[in-house]
Amino acid sequence: MSSTPIIEVRHITKRFKGLTAVKDVSFSIKEGAITGMIGPNGAGKSTTFNMICGYYPPTEGRIFFRGQDITDKKAYDYTKMKIARTFQIMKPLKNLSVLENVVASCYFGHAAAKNEREARERAMDVLQFTGLYEKRHILSKDMGTPDQKRLEMARALATKPELLFLDENMAGLNPAETEAAIELIRSINKSGVTIFLIEHIMQAVVSLCEEVIVLHHGEKIAEGTPEQVMNDPMVMEVYLGKKEASNHA
Ligand SMILES: Nc1ncnc2c1ncn2[C@@H]1O[C@H](COP(=O)(O)OP(=O)(O)O)[C@@H](O)[C@H]1O
Ligand SMILES: [Mg+2]
Repeated sequence: MSSTPIIEVRHITKRFKGLTAVKDVSFSIKEGAITGMIGPNGAGKSTTFNMICGYYPPTEGRIFFRGQDITDKKAYDYTKMKIARTFQIMKPLKNLSVLENVVASCYFGHAAAKNEREARERAMDVLQFTGLYEKRHILSKDMGTPDQKRLEMARALATKPELLFLDENMAGLNPAETEAAIELIRSINKSGVTIFLIEHIMQAVVSLCEEVIVLHHGEKIAEGTPEQVMNDPMVMEVYLGKKEASNHA
């Protein structure tokens, strides 16, 4: 494991017309780890995520991937850099089966499949790994939220990423489904994929993340281990509101 962070964000700011959504935020993401970002609604989490994923550039500041400046790279370049993401709003190809969705993703990125056989073989592996194999012939639009979220992960994994971004991948899941999602994320990480996730469910953040970054009103107010940030007076006061509010972000 190298000591150069896989991602380093230096002083990024994003302004939308009059509104400053993210203000002078800096942090880094450790190679091999699971890093989380939390904060109340409107804190600027998705905006930060979108800048790091190349969805749109920061108004100010720079972003580095393994030491290389990628601030001006487009989302398209990212799969080539072995970076994949899921969206908070799921975007499957609705009228294709689960299998076809994953097969389609196998043709993207640095490890794009060279033929149908290779794509299908990899898709089958990914479906087994994500627990969707039995549902491979269902149309993606006919699946419930938990499976749609799994499909998002399966599609991301089909591009063989080394870095995976997850934006609120557990929103809307019940406790058992959340536990299953936590296990899946842990096994993805164990297979060698660095993970950066935005998550509202504290239990997930605490159990998965080595480091957590806390945003509030577009600014970073704390970072550290889950324990450190949960005990940070600023986080307790400004973000959690009250001391006992430790179950929910
Ligand atoms: N494309 C956009 N245009 C204008 N305002 C935006 C846009 N995206 C986000 N915002 C605003 O930026 C702020 C941060 O939003 P967001 O990053 O989505 O927060 P979070 O993901 O933490 O809930 C909010 O006030 C939101 O309304
Ligand atoms: Mg968001």
